[in-house]
Amino acid sequence: MNILAIGDVVGSIGCDFLRAHLPQLKKYKAIDLVIANGENSADGNGITPSSAEHLFSSGVDVITAGNHTFRRRECYELFDREDCLLRPANFPSGTPGKGVCIVDMGRVQVGVINLMGVVYMENLDCPFATVDTLLKNELPRITLVDFHAEASGEKGAMGYYLDGRVSAVFGTHTHVQTADERILPNGTGFITDLGMTGPIQSVLGVKPELVIQKQKTKMPVRFDLADGDCHMDCVLFEIEEKNGKTISIERLRIE
Ligand SMILES: [Fe+2]
Ligand SMILES: [Fe+2]
Repeated sequence: MNILAIGDVVGSIGCDFLRAHLPQLKKYKAIDLVIANGENSADGNGITPSSAEHLFSSGVDVITAGNHTFRRRECYELFDREDCLLRPANFPSGTPGKGVCIVDMGRVQVGVINLMGVVYMENLDCPFATVDTLLKNELPRITLVDFHAEASGEKGAMGYYLDGRVSAVFGTHTHVQTADERILPNGTGFITDLGMTGPIQSVLGVKPELVIQKQKTKMPVRFDLADGDCHMDCVLFEIEEKNGKTISIERLRIE
């Protein structure tokens, strides 16, 4: 089974780029399931019902999120209602939505877990303890984890912690693709960060001059998205259906 994981999709420019390229990639690589991080898919950050719908109708099967999950109030109800729209599982209980879903693909089921790191990020529940609790329940043999986190050390630790317990662990959040994709000793596919789907000439998707202004003045600055040519960063996991292990991992940048 071929599962594609796509890095943070930034704004309508990123959503449009994904829509223009994903269908062809799915055909070319015989992709069975697509997971995309959509926490920045709305213009001005966060996720809205229309940006989620845009991603789903472009061929994304599961949308994950992160620290910008609840920036847009109009999406709270959708997080409760839509099975395949996730927020990190280690948010406090009572928060809208859920952090795990199971996609029924007929011959096989696929689980997706969304977690958030706590190093240099908000002080959520321990992601390691949270994932232990989730994995006590019966989850499909094929289960993947989007670990939305800042620190590469925390992400690497999660990869090895879950090695042999899930099919793949991929990082999101930094918007910068790392070149460390590999299969861990017990068969879990891993990459520190998938990267970003958005404008190339930008700082994490934002107009560079605005980020420079912010860094120099430390004053509030409205972060408008950059425009121009885009890329879509993603990783393709080939997973053995019999045992849920990753048998190949391919890092991709579509330009
Ligand atoms: Fe992001
Ligand atoms: Fe993030």
